[in-house]
Amino acid sequence: MKLTSALEVAKHNSPESCWLIIHGKIYDLTEFLNEHPGGKKILLKYAGKDATEAFDPIHPIDIIAKYLPPEVCLGEVDASTIIVEKKEETPEEKIRQTAIRNKPHISEMLNLYDFEAVAKQTLRADAWAYYSSGADDEITLRENHNAFHRIWLKPRVMVNVTNVDFSTNLLGHKSSFPLYITACALGKLGHPEGEVVLTRAANQQKIIQLLPTLASCSLDEMINASIVGQVLFYQLYVNSDRKISEQIVRTAEAKGCKALFITADAPQLGRREKDMRQKFVINPPDMQEDKDLKTRDEGAARAISKFIDPGLCWNDVKWFKSITKMPIVIKGIQCAEDAVLAWKYGCAGIVISNHGGRQLDTSPSAIEVLPSAIAALKAAGADLTKFDVYIDGGIRRGSDIFKAIALGAKAVGLGRPTLYAMSTYGDEGVERVIQLLKDEFEMVMRLMGVTSIDQINSSMVDISNLGNHIAAAPRDYLSAGVYEKMQPKQSKL
Ligand SMILES: Cc1cc2nc3c(=O)[nH]c(=O)nc-3n(C[C@H](O)[C@H](O)[C@H](O)COP(=O)(O)O)c2cc1C
Ligand SMILES: *[C@@H]1O[C@H](CO)[C@@H](O)[C@H](O)[C@H]1NC(C)=O
Ligand SMILES: *[C@@H]1O[C@H](CO)[C@@H](O)[C@H](O)[C@H]1NC(C)=O
Ligand SMILES: *[C@@H]1O[C@H](CO)[C@@H](O)[C@H](O)[C@H]1NC(C)=O
Repeated sequence: MKLTSALEVAKHNSPESCWLIIHGKIYDLTEFLNEHPGGKKILLKYAGKDATEAFDPIHPIDIIAKYLPPEVCLGEVDASTIIVEKKEETPEEKIRQTAIRNKPHISEMLNLYDFEAVAKQTLRADAWAYYSSGADDEITLRENHNAFHRIWLKPRVMVNVTNVDFSTNLLGHKSSFPLYITACALGKLGHPEGEVVLTRAANQQKIIQLLPTLASCSLDEMINASIVGQVLFYQLYVNSDRKISEQIVRTAEAKGCKALFITADAPQLGRREKDMRQKFVINPPDMQEDKDLKTRDEGAARAISKFIDPGLCWNDVKWFKSITKMPIVIKGIQCAEDAVLAWKYGCAGIVISNHGGRQLDTSPSAIEVLPSAIAALKAAGADLTKFDVYIDGGIRRGSDIFKAIALGAKAVGLGRPTLYAMSTYGDEGVERVIQLLKDEFEMVMRLMGVTSIDQINSSMVDISNLGNHIAAAPRDYLSAGVYEKMQPKQSKL
């Protein structure tokens, strides 16, 4: 390969000629500036420079070879010509490094919020903003978990609960637990190895992982991290260029993925303002387009809609069925009517989800939609032993999972907690988060007087307040005055 000096690369630092170094290779991305789904600003920020550190967390290693013509690669940079700049550690970074050094021992982590608390202190600011943010005012983000508090349990006692079995199956595949790791983009923002950490932990816990289209790891890397026979599902963002989607789907099937989850709730990305603010800080404020907010917004929206097709509709299900034998599940159902349509169009299941509160703010929590969706499916004649209904969003306790199963869900998806656990404690962290939920769930089953998943039904939950969003309760002032709030685990700063 041709060697070029870093000094020569540095000259190509403008929109007219934009070269970047990634993993020692030089790429001419001038023609790609307007196409880049992440916008051109970030490319121009690294124009003429080594962009590997910024590239790695958010792109699978094979993405350039997959989507850009080979001519964009101009050869390799002459390593001897690279001058390494020494970076000053900011005060924030010093605090973060201290928090990393002093994080609690994993055995001290007792619930999912402990992991979130440590993640908040130890993640890079951009990663925390991307993972934790929700859309607009984050009403739906908070409601996702809060809605579970409006459901009350009806425990039965004097039942022999010596042996409890919570194994189940998802789309006919065995799972040790009615829970799967759902698809979240950009795993390497939180952990240098990215999604393969989740793949390994899923195997260790014998649960299923839903692999994201926008993973930081390549599909090959994730498949490679799984063991023979480990069940993996594939989450798809449908591309405007259906040939690209077709190729992705065929590859996922050929590599052994057992189901296709098509994400339907993101024809345009929601406004996640914490995340947007981070990008403002990270990108230099003196770029030309920054003077005109409107142009930039259009640019980003256009770039994204090129990648995720806003034209996706029910008729497309037929086409997907023609190109794959994998069962199709629609992810992002938010009302009973659409649940029934998914069944009518021949899908194998649905995920009731609002994308973790990251898309349409004030869309309802999945747990609130669930009872009406199950009722409508039954009324339409759906056989719920052959049509799986999953929910995700705000699952943080074993009792949340119990409530979902009671109301008709086959399993639940777990999103952010897996990211936080992975980012803070790697494989062990994810394993522990799943194990904690299993332990909690087992306890809830015993205290509810059931010994297997099929015994759990809607008679065990009181949902009379679930749909009530103005549930005023008399405040217990005396008790509140003396009550000591639970504190999440803190790093010993
Ligand atoms: C950081 C992050 C990235 C996500 N990326 C995707 C994605 O690429 N595709 C997708 O279908 N859903 C994505 N989601 C939504 C999740 O699959 C899931 O619906 C949601 O996280 C569940 O809520 P929870 O985080 O409260 O568990 C993402 C969620 C988060 C938090
Ligand atoms: C309770 O169930 C266990 C396991 O099924 C069984 O071995 C045991 O004899 C039962 N106990 C009673 C008192 O029935
Ligand atoms: C597959 O995994 C093995 C062992 O973990 C590793 O050595 C190899 O590089 C991996 N290959 C790919 C394509 O990721
Ligand atoms: C729920 O299960 C209990 C005990 O198995 C059963 O008696 C009851 O009829 C079931 N209720 C519903 C609504 O399915």
